[in-house]
Amino acid sequence: MPFEPVLMRHANVPNSTSIEVYQRAGGYAGAAKALKMTPDELVELVKKANLRGRGGAGFPAGMKWSFLPKDRTVTYLCVNADESEPPTFCNRITIETDPHMLLEGILIAGYATRTTVAYIYMRGEFTEQFHILQRAVDEAYAAGYFGRNILGSGYDLECYIHRGAGAYVCGEETGLIESLEGKRGWPRIKPPFPAVEGAFRKPTVVNNVETLACLPHILTRGLDWWLSVGTENSKGPKMYCVSGPVNRPGCYEAPLGVSVRELIYGDDFARGMRGGKKVKAVFPGGLSMGVIRGDLFPKNPSGAIDPKADYDELDCRLDFDDVRHYDLLGLGTAALVVIDEDTDIRDVLVNVARFYSHESCGQCTQCREGTAWMYKIAQRMRAGAGRVYDLDLLQEVTQNMGMMPGLSICGLPDGAAWPIRTLVYKFRREFEAHIARQAPDAVMSYARRINPAAYELPVLHGRAVIDEGGTFQTPVDLMSKRVTLGPAREVVAVVD
Ligand SMILES: Cc1cc2nc3c(=O)[nH]c(=O)nc-3n(C[C@H](O)[C@H](O)[C@H](O)COP(=O)(O)O)c2cc1C
Ligand code: SF4
Repeated sequence: MPFEPVLMRHANVPNSTSIEVYQRAGGYAGAAKALKMTPDELVELVKKANLRGRGGAGFPAGMKWSFLPKDRTVTYLCVNADESEPPTFCNRITIETDPHMLLEGILIAGYATRTTVAYIYMRGEFTEQFHILQRAVDEAYAAGYFGRNILGSGYDLECYIHRGAGAYVCGEETGLIESLEGKRGWPRIKPPFPAVEGAFRKPTVVNNVETLACLPHILTRGLDWWLSVGTENSKGPKMYCVSGPVNRPGCYEAPLGVSVRELIYGDDFARGMRGGKKVKAVFPGGLSMGVIRGDLFPKNPSGAIDPKADYDELDCRLDFDDVRHYDLLGLGTAALVVIDEDTDIRDVLVNVARFYSHESCGQCTQCREGTAWMYKIAQRMRAGAGRVYDLDLLQEVTQNMGMMPGLSICGLPDGAAWPIRTLVYKFRREFEAHIARQAPDAVMSYARRINPAAYELPVLHGRAVIDEGGTFQTPVDLMSKRVTLGPAREVVAVVD
């Protein structure tokens, strides 16, 4: 059966932001159904649907809701509309084209979690979108979907929009909560997790816009439909953003598990590269999840199949599992940045490093300093003063920052480390070639550091640095030829 979009079904419908248009298309029927169930039944339904969070971490929504203490008297729902991950703009599209779908999702999640107040925390730059959403909230109040005794169920829910000032770290759930409370958006040390102690120190659920927007469809179309969409552990539809030099950049809905290749080349999606250029690299999950190449690369040894074989990285399927076989941290926001063959990989590195260095909130030393070091190294490499050693240094810095090694309060440095680590790992030869061309003296001094016996030799158009141990750095373009100098003196690294 062909896939029928649900999250973007109103994207091109005139006046789609109004409650009349939404209701005429069956809107708020899911909420009406939910209010006839008990909150516990709803939580069970969402658990069975295995609705995984669309905000980046992919945590199952139903399980998160069940962490709320049973004896709580107050619960808050924070709707994460900060949408600050680079190239990600699907929440914006939802708010611009179908705000009532989000509001219906808030009502359903609010009822399931016994929330009394929902706060929509909105990215500061979303000015027009704020007005669209505020109009929709007013309409929903007027129609009785917010306020007292909603649809005669006895359930009360207030809904407010809170505008942020535009900081990446305010998308992190505890940074968001601090900012909502009127403080500086500094993430909190966990535990306690928000489910136990969140906004105003009360039990709080934080969910992404798209996660909540899925709820009305689970209720109206049913569990069987939901489970029929997607892959084994990744159920339901997803909004994918595609940006970069493609023919049709935009936001597209597809079942979870669509491949990167389909999104770039498919007729229903981005329709190929502008000017027929080749894909050099893709960041498929927002920046933070890492990079894949536009061609063959050995699959991650943890990948299930043959670790020795090369895999076309564009075959990567965008669900919560397959991405891990391509050295990606996760699905992230499923927002693709496509990079073409004309782009200098050093520029990509500088842009990535600059973003995280600028956005680190500065509480944790290794994040504040580490992201700044990476940016400085990246700038040095772009300026032509890079050393091969810098590539190792970058790798080392990325291993020593983040929540995963237990060194930081929030996940921002993990998201900074992963794209830089994968860029250096997957494009190492290209970085080395730039270094070799641009800074022969730096290369020479590096070669001497690892082997004092290293010496220079004129080869073809310039010099080669020969290392007795067999490792080799070249400051010149050797025109892809191997130069053999005898058993112990072979040129092993060649620019291609
Ligand atoms: C640095 C950082 C930035 C984040 N930015 C966002 C964001 O803009 N929007 C979002 O929904 N989640 C963001 N997250 C993830 C949230 O902390 C949280 O996991 C998410 O809002 C939970 O919603 P979900 O379970 O529905 O996905 C960010 C996390 C980190 C570490
Ligand atoms: S890890 Fe970085 S962004 Fe997160 S709290 Fe620490 S300094 Fe701030």
